Amino acid sequence: MSNLIIIKKKIKNFSKKIIVSGDKSISIRWVLFASLAAGKSEAKNLLKSEDVLAAIKAIKKLGIKVIFKKKICEIYGKGFNGYKYKKGINIDCENSGTLARLLLGFLVNAHEKIKVTGDKSLSRRDFKRISDPLSKFGASFKLNKGKNLPLSILGSNELKPINYLEKRGSAQCKSAVIFAGMRTDGITKIKAKKSRNHTELLCKHLKLPIKIKHTNKYDKIEVSKVKKIKTLNYSIPSDISSSAFFIGLTLLSNNSKLVIQNVNVNPSRTGIITILKKMGAKINFKNQKIYKGEKIADLIIKSSKKIYPINCPTELNSGAIDEFLVIFLIAAKAKGISYFRDLSELNQKESPRLKWGSKILNLMGIKTITTHNSIKIFGNPDLQIKKKIIIKNYFKDHRVFMTSVIAALTFGGDWYIHDKDSIKTSFPDFLKIVNQIKNEKQKRKYI
Ligand code: S3P
Repeated sequence: MSNLIIIKKKIKNFSKKIIVSGDKSISIRWVLFASLAAGKSEAKNLLKSEDVLAAIKAIKKLGIKVIFKKKICEIYGKGFNGYKYKKGINIDCENSGTLARLLLGFLVNAHEKIKVTGDKSLSRRDFKRISDPLSKFGASFKLNKGKNLPLSILGSNELKPINYLEKRGSAQCKSAVIFAGMRTDGITKIKAKKSRNHTELLCKHLKLPIKIKHTNKYDKIEVSKVKKIKTLNYSIPSDISSSAFFIGLTLLSNNSKLVIQNVNVNPSRTGIITILKKMGAKINFKNQKIYKGEKIADLIIKSSKKIYPINCPTELNSGAIDEFLVIFLIAAKAKGISYFRDLSELNQKESPRLKWGSKILNLMGIKTITTHNSIKIFGNPDLQIKKKIIIKNYFKDHRVFMTSVIAALTFGGDWYIHDKDSIKTSFPDFLKIVNQIKNEKQKRKYI
């Protein structure tokens, strides 16, 4: 099957109810926690994307049994010190920064050298941000070019707790240090700029020795030695980052309505909703509940007649970090100039996303001014694209692909978007759901 998708028609108005796939961050964390629990854990609705499957392959390499039974995934953990560190283990984290960085946190006690590799995109990303704090615990690293994958880690049996300041707002760095802190005698103290807190919520749910104090900008976390992790049965809620593409699709369409059921709306992940509401979006929560510390709700989205520009408050950045490509697309339709700052982290993602966000908009005919950490978007509410647009060579960044599809379906033009397979990273059902939302008579015609 061709890996190119051609879209030449806009979507017609729709009113639909959908369910998107399981949350990627929670899925990977569940796999890792379950792999260190003492006994069998089960997950329903685990995201079966390449990133999560890479996590499963990784724990299998470390001697953990995993069985898939229809909609259930079973992991047979062997306890907190149950990984088998054989000689010559090579763990391929493929495209997943979350897997690579979080797993390293647990490997600080490995008594054999473990090689960690990734695909082309992951191999260009920064791993010094992880090896620096984990070295302080006592683990030894060798990194390609001093900062990249492939790397090797050799753990220590004399790990020491550390004090760590996390300034980027990176949940991956924070989580890796929490995990390493669980393997030392003494207290690891972390001061972390606000970022998604699924790790902390899981630790609390599992009654692990973690203390958290929230201040305005930072969370202060203390972790002590863990002896045992209880088994963890979990029903994974839907991913707000996957929902984001359909929120965008609805807001940019005319007279449309969408309900997305059972979405994780943890306040550390809902930056997109806060930002879009400031831009005039109509998004509401229904059926709110708390599940194992995580907030869940149905999202109700109505298309927007008017979109306002925004000078985006930087404190909203980390809660929307994976959604900026969609947000930029919506800013393209605003009447006026939108400004997003302090976003250098976006260029550290699966592709340099600040550059790609700007590139997609420029191809669409939208003016942008981009620096290494900011973008100004000169929106045009009347934009109707008439030309051919080709999207390729973007490090197969799944979010670049999906954003381009949403742009094609809402702004018009003839779009040639390469590397369709990139969606397998986080959201294999993406195109299936796009087709589900289209009216029957449109089905199959364009995708
Ligand atoms: C993630 C944290 C974020 C995010 C990534 C998932 C996580 O990365 O972009 O997609 O699950 O912890 P950073 O920690 O690099 O900000």
